[in-house]
Amino acid sequence: MQSYQRGREIVLGVGAGIAAYKSCDLLRRLKDRGFLVTVIPTSASLHFIGVATWEALSGRPVETELWNNVHKVPHIATASRCDVIVIAPTTADLLARLASGRADDYLTNVFISSDAPKILVPAMHPQMWLNPATQANVATLRQRGVIVVEPDVGRLTGEDSGIGRFPESERIIREVQEALHVNADLLGRNILITAGGTRERIDPVRYIGNRSSGLQGYALAWEAVRRGAKVKVISANVTLPDIEGVETFPVESAEEMQKLILQFSPEEDAIIMSAAVADVRPVSHSAEKISKEHFTEIALTRNPDLLRGIVEAKSARQVIVGFAAETGIDIEKKGRAKLVAKGVDILYVNDVSGGAIFGEEYTEGSLLIDDGRSIEVIHELKETLATKLLDEVALKLGYVNE
Ligand code: CTP
Repeated sequence: MQSYQRGREIVLGVGAGIAAYKSCDLLRRLKDRGFLVTVIPTSASLHFIGVATWEALSGRPVETELWNNVHKVPHIATASRCDVIVIAPTTADLLARLASGRADDYLTNVFISSDAPKILVPAMHPQMWLNPATQANVATLRQRGVIVVEPDVGRLTGEDSGIGRFPESERIIREVQEALHVNADLLGRNILITAGGTRERIDPVRYIGNRSSGLQGYALAWEAVRRGAKVKVISANVTLPDIEGVETFPVESAEEMQKLILQFSPEEDAIIMSAAVADVRPVSHSAEKISKEHFTEIALTRNPDLLRGIVEAKSARQVIVGFAAETGIDIEKKGRAKLVAKGVDILYVNDVSGGAIFGEEYTEGSLLIDDGRSIEVIHELKETLATKLLDEVALKLGYVNE
């Protein structure tokens, strides 16, 4: 599995408190931010909110019992897959069980088996929260590195009020984002990414193609969805698995890619053209395989420049990012000239001297911004470039919309 496929898996544990209903809102907001959430309610919590609600809101099956699918060892699989565990609400009883290392149901088994960051959101009446036993359990858990969010002060279940209220969802989400080192600076933005390399058919078995693997485009899609964007990927001949939460549209040729770009682009806040689009295609392609006797030359015609079309049609609020692959010396200079010629806001120029970069985990080149800045990228992971590039996109989107 690629390393960029980490950082979005959340286990949302739900304890048996009335605040369980507020966790439905928390779940919605986490999903809106592109997180993938597996809900694990305790069986007692089902008195408040049932399995059907959690399954519908999370879009995933919900398990409460340890004794189903035992052959798959689900508590260990879930514990090792998740990037953070949030238990909201956490009851006094759950605090006690977790502090003493009990593992007597599915949720506590996952908790004790995972080395992911853990965030507890206690909600209960002040008498229970302030009870010395509860406070001692909280202190023990904090000592072990568990984040225990301080409850809010305010109205409680009945007429009473005091400390013990379930915090606003946004406060919990901030804790989650901090634990995962993500910010939501692309929240709600529509981002279109092209990835891979187009293939232009010659006959049923042959094509004109290129060596682009789609790794960079998928790393961008991963990071963008992690930062809250709504991401579409037009994927040209990529063999990587689809990214959950990203809409993926497979295409083969430049013309197919162009159709989808025209369809989607008016809605998009940013368009990132990381795909390697073939510059030319055969004038016509044969329905039958061409025998080698007749396969002596291919008449070619130029493909449309998709990026140029995007720039020409772009609205003032849109941010357009191009890619370029160059070899030889003066790569940055060539890239800067291309940024101007193509009229893009940002251009990443890959140094592909010697066929490097294609299909590799690492990249090298310069990230060029239209304000004259350039950011050197020297042998960095494609995920790292994705982060830097999206930092610049977020900055521009912020400016555009101010
Ligand atoms: N691109 C495109 N349509 C094409 C060719 C390229 O949209 N028909 C986009 C790629 O997705 C990428 C950038 O343009 O973002 C790549 O530029 P490059 O191929 O280096 O530029 P060209 O104009 O084709 O320059 P060259 O003359 O060096 O081939």
